[in-house]
Amino acid sequence: MSTWIASKLEVAAPRDGYQTIGVDPLNPVVGGEVTGVDLSKPLSDAQIAEIRAAFADRHVLIFRDQILSVEDHKRFARLFGALHVHPYNAKNVAPDHAAPTKANADPEILVVKADQTSRFVAGEEWHSDVTCDAEPPMGSMLYITKTPEIGGGDTLFASTVRAYEALSPMMQEFVGRLTATHDGAKPYTGAYGTAPPPGGWPKTNHPVVITVPWSGRKALYVNRGFTTRLNPLNRKESDALLEFLFRHIESHVAFQCRVRWTPNTLVFWDNWSVQHHAAWDYYPHSRFGQRVSIIAGSPAA
Ligand code: SIN
Repeated sequence: MSTWIASKLEVAAPRDGYQTIGVDPLNPVVGGEVTGVDLSKPLSDAQIAEIRAAFADRHVLIFRDQILSVEDHKRFARLFGALHVHPYNAKNVAPDHAAPTKANADPEILVVKADQTSRFVAGEEWHSDVTCDAEPPMGSMLYITKTPEIGGGDTLFASTVRAYEALSPMMQEFVGRLTATHDGAKPYTGAYGTAPPPGGWPKTNHPVVITVPWSGRKALYVNRGFTTRLNPLNRKESDALLEFLFRHIESHVAFQCRVRWTPNTLVFWDNWSVQHHAAWDYYPHSRFGQRVSIIAGSPAA
């Protein structure tokens, strides 16, 4: 790591002021294991306030050994905003984690599933969720109930807050003046080969640098999964600078944490402060979970 990046990485002290939950940081930058919470039961106001504080501080919260119905999962998510309906919701299914059928399709649930028949898995590329939407999810909650027998299937997270802070002041100022195009056709047709819904995949513009409302911190908001263009620049300039920003976020291990799943773990991540990458290193074994995402407006500079 270059010294100018290292000098920007001031170490955040682990927060130890929690009264109603435990938060064990994965590292000084991002990620925390939360204890003392049963998400199948209503939470107290104090617990909710402390989970909000931990989310703003850690960006990725890990809740292990949770036995949740779909309603429990959704009730927890609704504490933070309205539930998002994924444009890819032909695959959305399954009240109470039953096998998916068209008859029980639930558009607020995204099934995250891989087995020996899979040609691709969701999220096997650095991205923030569904940034092609005008109101992209502020957070997602993935509840994994089955992990591969041989291990693997971890999810990696990279702090886009730290990535922004590690840029030089001149680069921060320059990218802070840009907007970018985010296009659902890039992953959904391009990588997954899925036919678009009537009206096409969503496509929208967002600022390249956003201010995360719940922390007040600035974050880079471009990702390899969805971002296709830095709008005011010509194509070559845009391609080169986007590639620099993608690699800057993806390649610094000091911005990252890695979550090792155990069955019945729920992870709640902040899509405006991190990107994530699902490791598909367990083929032909299977992994199963369901994701709920939360909307709370549009990201702003
Ligand atoms: C995703 O939501 O992108 C999938 C993450 C995962 O499967 O770990």
